Amino acid sequence: MSTELTYEVRRLRGKAEMQAALQLRHEVFCVEQGVPEREELDGRDGDGVHLVAVSDGEVLATCRLLFVGPTVQFSRLAVRQTARRHGIASALLALADDETRSGGARRLVLHAQTYARSLYDGAGYEPRGRVFMEAGIEHIAMEKVLG
Ligand SMILES: CC(C)(COP(=O)(O)OP(=O)(O)OC[C@H]1O[C@@H](n2cnc3c(N)ncnc32)[C@H](O)[C@@H]1OP(=O)(O)O)[C@@H](O)C(=O)NCCC(=O)NCCS
Repeated sequence: MSTELTYEVRRLRGKAEMQAALQLRHEVFCVEQGVPEREELDGRDGDGVHLVAVSDGEVLATCRLLFVGPTVQFSRLAVRQTARRHGIASALLALADDETRSGGARRLVLHAQTYARSLYDGAGYEPRGRVFMEAGIEHIAMEKVLG
C-alpha cells in the first residue's frame, strides 16, 4: 500500500517551473530511458501548453499539449520516479481532456510506450496501427475522441 501524496495538477506557471519541468524530462527521458537530448528537445516547447503536478513547490510531473487544428498532440509525460503509482499521470491525462475541450479541440493523439499502455487504456485511449520503434523504445499510436 503506497503512502498518501498530496499534489495539484494545473498549467505550468513561469520560467522557474518551465526549467524544473525540462530538468525532470531530461532526468526521465534522457538519463533513465536513454533518449537522445536532440529528440527530447524538439524545438516545439514554445508552442505547447504545459501541464504540471506540483507538491510543496516541487514539480513532480509534466506533460505537453500541442494544438494542431482540431487535434491535440499529447507528449512528454514524465513523472518523478519517487512519485509514481499515485495516479499523477492519470490526473494529468484528465486535465489534458479539459484543456483540449476548452481549447476548442476534440481529439487527442499520442505515442504510448507499450509498457505503459494500460495507463492510456484506463484513460479511454484506443490503439491505432502497429507497434513501432521511436527513440529506441517500443511505441503504439493511440487516440481519444472526446464525447
Ligand atoms: C508511465 C508514467 C508516466 C506513469 O505515471 P504514474 O503517475 O505512475 O501513473 P499512474 O499512477 O497514473 O498509473 C495509472 C495506471 O497506469 C498503469 N501504469 C502506470 N505505470 C505503469 C508501469 N510502469 N507499468 C505498467 N503499467 C503502468 C497502471 O495501470 C496504473 O494503475 P495502477 O497503479 O492502479 O496499477 C511514469 O511511470 C513515467 O514517467 N515513466 C517514465 C516516462 C514514460 O514512460 N512516460 C510515458 C511515455 S508514453
